[in-house]
Amino acid sequence: MKITVSNFAEYGTHIVFITEDNKQKVDDFKGKKNEITVRYEDKKTIIYSGIGKKKECTADILRTTAGSALRKANELKRAKVSLIDPGIQRGNKNFSYAILMGAILGSYSFSKYKSKKVDKIQIIQFVTKFVSKKEIHDINTIGKSVYFSRDLVNDNASLITPQYLAVEAKKISSLYSEINCEILNEKDIEHNKLGLLFAVGKGAPYPPRLIILKYKGNKKSKDNKVIVGKGVTFDSGGLNLKGSTHIETMRSDMSGAAAILGTMKAIAILKPKINVTGVIASAYNAIDGKSYIPGDIYQSYSGKSVEICNTDAEGRLILADAISYCKRKYNPTEIIDLATLTGAILYALGDNYAGLFSNNDLIAKELLQAGKVSGEKLWRMPLEEAHLESMKSELADLRNVSKLPKGCASSSTAAAFIQSFVEDTPWAHIDIAGTAFNNQEENGEIPKYGTGFGVRLLIQYLFGK
Ligand code: BES
Ligand code: ZN
Ligand code: ZN
Repeated sequence: MKITVSNFAEYGTHIVFITEDNKQKVDDFKGKKNEITVRYEDKKTIIYSGIGKKKECTADILRTTAGSALRKANELKRAKVSLIDPGIQRGNKNFSYAILMGAILGSYSFSKYKSKKVDKIQIIQFVTKFVSKKEIHDINTIGKSVYFSRDLVNDNASLITPQYLAVEAKKISSLYSEINCEILNEKDIEHNKLGLLFAVGKGAPYPPRLIILKYKGNKKSKDNKVIVGKGVTFDSGGLNLKGSTHIETMRSDMSGAAAILGTMKAIAILKPKINVTGVIASAYNAIDGKSYIPGDIYQSYSGKSVEICNTDAEGRLILADAISYCKRKYNPTEIIDLATLTGAILYALGDNYAGLFSNNDLIAKELLQAGKVSGEKLWRMPLEEAHLESMKSELADLRNVSKLPKGCASSSTAAAFIQSFVEDTPWAHIDIAGTAFNNQEENGEIPKYGTGFGVRLLIQYLFGK
């Protein structure tokens, strides 16, 4: 799909935003939020989209409305659409960026496995005076990186394996010479004593990988932000097998990895002047005779031993080894991990907010702000000594599930487990188990299934796009 900019609406389908206080009234249409109608005027199709009162209009409202309007145009099988910017400003900021981003994100669909070819929008003509060609390019790059991330989540777990993610990472590094790619295969993982990542991947037909993409856009700076993603390409639960209500969406357990790859792809194209290392710990958590065993104790890369109380708490194990490895090899100035870590975060926060855990108030504050601007919202969760204490084992140094009563503060205790490997490096953990995969109906810029959550948040946080 292409984006063009113009001063005039040239195509036969127009998307027009209407506020409640709009003078140019449309019959039986009040311009309320979420109100949408299709009218046929002078051989043109007009999709009128309500955005509520002008004074109360926000970037979030416009992003969501634009997403719904483009989805409507897709349903109507329109190939070319003129999207008319209402030119709403707040202070010195205009909302055109959010409108175009919402429109691109709302145009997404995953139709790879449909036997009939699905018609998709081919051109969005943005009718605006408020965005430059360069900005259009940036928004389009970020939007398409979100598509890439969604595609990885939506596709089959039998295709999107740890090896597949490694190949995708190599492709990203070949886009730009300032990105280096390093892959540890199952033998390297074993020889380097990444014992937890090796254990989780042991029973699988698809062996584990540690994937590292190093981007150096500012050679003068020692700053190196490490972003880490959980890449469990299928989570059966292992020998603590999951029940049938949860297992069928567990191809999405690599959504953290998909967010890291999407972010690194955008970075490879936009080339910001920053240093970022993208890391993916990837394994397939299988049930098999060779799977890692509940009750056994495994040695982590850091030297700490871990008692496996539940093989379904696998994400924290692979992240722990990836983080310790990065700390030893890449001198991170800060670490941010994204992971579909706990079902409990969905119960606590729903599917609109991801859980934020951090040992550093400044990073937490900046991430919360990036969440507000990008629309990928975060909510800070508690993390303290008592959570850490509950992860201590009598037989080993740590246990992978807390001693607290079942389910009690389990998103916080999972974060505490990771924290004990981070130690005092400034760090944030973002639990995206509620936001990465949408089981409900699509809503504005958010489609059903893989949402691509994290790409826009990370880009906003890392270089303020
Ligand atoms: N991948 C799951 C978490 C998850 C649940 C992601 C639902 C997306 C939707 C994770 O590996 C897991 O199974 N966590 C367990 C931990 C428990 C065994 C302590 C959980 O949340 O139940
Ligand atoms: Zn699990
Ligand atoms: Zn998992």
